[in-house]
Amino acid sequence: MIRKNTKTSVVTRLPGKSKKSEEEPIQLLKGMKDILPADQIYWDYIRQKVKEISQNYCFRYIDTPVLEKTSLFAKSVGADTDIVAKEMFSFIDRGGENVSLRPENTASVVRAYIEHGMISEPQPVKLYYFGPFFRHDRPQAGRYRQFYQFGFESLGDASPIVDAQLIVMVRGLYEEFGLETEAQVNSIGCPICRPEYEKLLIDYFKSKRRFLCEDCKKRLVKNPLRLLDCKNEECQELAQEAPQSVDYLDDECRSHFVKVLEYLDGAEMPYSLNPRLVRGLDYYTRTAFEIWAPGKGGHHNALGGGGRYDNLARLLGGRPTPACGFAGGVERLIMVLKENNVQIPQEKIADIYLAQLGESARKKALKLYELLRRGGIRISGGFSKDGLKPQLAEASKLGVAYTLILGQKEILDNTILIRDMENGSQEVVDYKKVVEEVKKRLSRITNGLTVKKINES
Ligand code: HAM
Repeated sequence: MIRKNTKTSVVTRLPGKSKKSEEEPIQLLKGMKDILPADQIYWDYIRQKVKEISQNYCFRYIDTPVLEKTSLFAKSVGADTDIVAKEMFSFIDRGGENVSLRPENTASVVRAYIEHGMISEPQPVKLYYFGPFFRHDRPQAGRYRQFYQFGFESLGDASPIVDAQLIVMVRGLYEEFGLETEAQVNSIGCPICRPEYEKLLIDYFKSKRRFLCEDCKKRLVKNPLRLLDCKNEECQELAQEAPQSVDYLDDECRSHFVKVLEYLDGAEMPYSLNPRLVRGLDYYTRTAFEIWAPGKGGHHNALGGGGRYDNLARLLGGRPTPACGFAGGVERLIMVLKENNVQIPQEKIADIYLAQLGESARKKALKLYELLRRGGIRISGGFSKDGLKPQLAEASKLGVAYTLILGQKEILDNTILIRDMENGSQEVVDYKKVVEEVKKRLSRITNGLTVKKINES
């Protein structure tokens, strides 16, 4: 860390200037990941599909800052949850404020909803987002310290049809990616009926205390619901026989849950009731759900999760606002797409290639590049390459339909050659008409998209 002393502007703890440290390349932080150009086709595709489905269901896009007051997450996600207690990137900023990199977005969206008076807009207010989140967890496949989520939040409508439609919508989104997913559904009640259930849960697990893992012993006191989704095998076995929340819902919560299930049945949406699905965030009330993708060796991957959080707005100082949402992990989705060899439509990088031979052609080519670009044509060109052969080789590699060739003769005649890359035929055209001619030819190619198999190099 670099710390400035205001009087003398002293910089402390600069890295030592040993020969060794100059030679060693600085590497990524643990749990962080570069998203390289080769992978961007997945990201573009996912962003586009999320945008499309959001527009279909009238969700509007929202961005919130990556940095928020730590108290926002402590209050909403819960001070005793793993996310807040163990995984947040928190620090005191230069103004003395305790701040955190956001570990999730529901809290921030609700903060923004309250702060910008969205309660006075027609309800529900339906918002979606796509961005980076931060959790200092132990990195492993599909789990990073900076990861991306897309998410949908519907605020201001208590009806169970909102929950059901959200589940149908997100499952439909994964279907668009060619994935057959499973919706896991549960109800964890509300602050009125949950305490009685939690008491039963504590009694049950207390009698088996000696078989519990160390984390679960703490959960007994701090967060009993989470005893149900511990990953430890012995704890999981005990959880099989534990009391189930759906049996202890009060009348309103039960009727809400029954209606959600009826709506799902009505939409012919397959789902599994999962009594051990409790989610790792404290703000949920009633419906909790996850979307699972079948993974390797019979294990599942939680692609995303969500549920209802009817008390969160009030907890954050706003007016009572029932709400329901979902967030999906982008890296996990890409992992599952790759495992399943799902084909992603790939857009070509360039429509045409511009080849030049000699210095005067190079000068003219620079201007032509601009003319073509302004005409909406995507061009690639080997300005630093000499000779036609390497330039044509690059053009074929890019898969462009046409290459424009500008040589000495063409400069003198004020013409240009258009080479059809499929059959190798070349045509001389008037230089002044080149943009028009290229556009005409490109418009004849009806389908500019190619489909590439994932495993192809
Ligand atoms: P969450 O279950 O904590 O829910 O996260 C949702 C998804 O984000 C996970 O299912 C997973 O795909 C992805 N994810 C979480 N942590 C990581 C990580 N360390 N590395 C990679 N991917 C990760 C929430 O965040 C809630 N805000 C969802 C919600 C929205 N509930 C209501 N509205």
